[in-house]
Amino acid sequence: MAELSVKLANLTLDNPIIPASGTFGFGYEFAELYDINILGSISVKGTTKEPRLGNPLPRIAECTDGLINSVGLQNPGVDKVLSEELPKLRQVYSKPIIANVSGFSPEEYAYTAERLDSDSSVGIIEVNISCPNVRCGGIAFGTDKQNAALVTKAVKAATKKPVFIKLTPNVTDITEIARACEAEGADGLSLINTLLGMRIDLKTKKPVIANKMGGFSGRAILPVALRCVWQVYEAVNIPIIGMGGISTPENVIEMMLAGATAVQIGAENLINPTVCRDIIQALPATMEKYGITDLSSIIGGAH
Ligand code: FUM
Repeated sequence: MAELSVKLANLTLDNPIIPASGTFGFGYEFAELYDINILGSISVKGTTKEPRLGNPLPRIAECTDGLINSVGLQNPGVDKVLSEELPKLRQVYSKPIIANVSGFSPEEYAYTAERLDSDSSVGIIEVNISCPNVRCGGIAFGTDKQNAALVTKAVKAATKKPVFIKLTPNVTDITEIARACEAEGADGLSLINTLLGMRIDLKTKKPVIANKMGGFSGRAILPVALRCVWQVYEAVNIPIIGMGGISTPENVIEMMLAGATAVQIGAENLINPTVCRDIIQALPATMEKYGITDLSSIIGGAH
């Protein structure tokens, strides 16, 4: 029988499949479609200290094999996430979740992480230092190793839960950022966030997205994500959640061979809202096809 479970920090996941933050709401919305308890975990919508309405419209542009988004971290703020969103999720999902945190200063990241630490359903705090769609926050921390270290240190001091830092591929050397986070005590890394991109509307001859640029994700970015996971796996000794362009069980296996302990599935949820369930159900047959009995035994196996 195929063994799908993996150990991620201090959690044991039934399988490595996790919907990515920003593509799965707060999770309970998808419980109308299928029993979401099949999922390894859920990375819920990125949360900030204050509520955010997000960026002006339009903020989505379609592309070949992907899309560009500039949502701007729209979310109801940490108070409402704790009092309304997570309780709703708890009614339909019984496993530990991943709380995704954004901020505009190390102190703000730490504040939101500390608040989320108090919720018993939170198993991991994922710190987004890689959002390309906000000024003075997000990616500004993730493209500079000193800033990445400052945020990691501040969040680690604010929570006892495992802290995973979510990295951007929009840097020359992702391994130096990864090492800086590891040195400040990060328990793991999530990678990759989106690639900075844009589209131009031929009728208006202007950028499609109101904010001009946004984050490109979807199937097209899988090779970039695999390359980054490969490089970071060789550079650090902490677990990696691999993401970027995953849409099939074969892609999951490829990402784990590159070095991921678990994977997140993002843009594909917007095309096929049951893709995470479909992949979990298809994994045993795909493992058998490639002679794999225990998924965790293949982590980093391509190195
Ligand atoms: O604009 C957004 O909310 C995107 C966030 C992200 O990619 O981290």
